[in-house]
Amino acid sequence: MIDGQKLRAGMRAVPTAVTVVTTASNGRTRGATIGSFASVSLEPPLVCFNISRDAQLHEVLMDATRLVIHVLRDDQIELSNFFANKDRSSEEQLAQTPHAFDEHGVPILKDALAVFSCNLVSMSETGDSSLVVAHVDAVYSNEDGDPLVFYNRGYCRVGDRL
Ligand SMILES: Cc1cc2nc3c(=O)[nH]c(=O)nc-3n(C[C@H](O)[C@H](O)[C@H](O)COP(=O)(O)O)c2cc1C
Repeated sequence: MIDGQKLRAGMRAVPTAVTVVTTASNGRTRGATIGSFASVSLEPPLVCFNISRDAQLHEVLMDATRLVIHVLRDDQIELSNFFANKDRSSEEQLAQTPHAFDEHGVPILKDALAVFSCNLVSMSETGDSSLVVAHVDAVYSNEDGDPLVFYNRGYCRVGDRL
């Protein structure tokens, strides 16, 4: 048996995209920075991410049907840190971030590199987190700009193409 610290050390070798996931339920919105975003299936179009069961986002997702995944640009480190801060209230999150609402009342943040608008398919308890699977109904991607990457405990830019 290895402990979580050993897993964390190994995962330092794995670069991830940095996203902010937003959702809404019971009159409350919430967003959080999520690095575990991945695609699962093309037909049907499914994506997934993990959310800690301690997160406020987890609580709001439990009653949600819709969510939006925003892929951040390499000049959006501040936004990533902002949405990784548990001490911000949901009201503060929205007040301090330029956004619009989609037709389901879910916040869409301005200026992301790509935006995936999703229906929540399942949330399954997996260890200390839940694995969220979502069906993508719309994708908006911007050709200009590069993604923010999290690698070896820090933010990075995408390097040279090999
Ligand atoms: C780059 C980065 C990636 C993260 N990825 C995840 C993730 O995949 N799952 C998760 O539960 N928390 C992740 N976090 C931590 C959450 O953003 C943070 O705990 C957040 O405040 C939890 O949501 P809450 O404010 O709704 O409680 C990540 C943080 C950073 C900075």
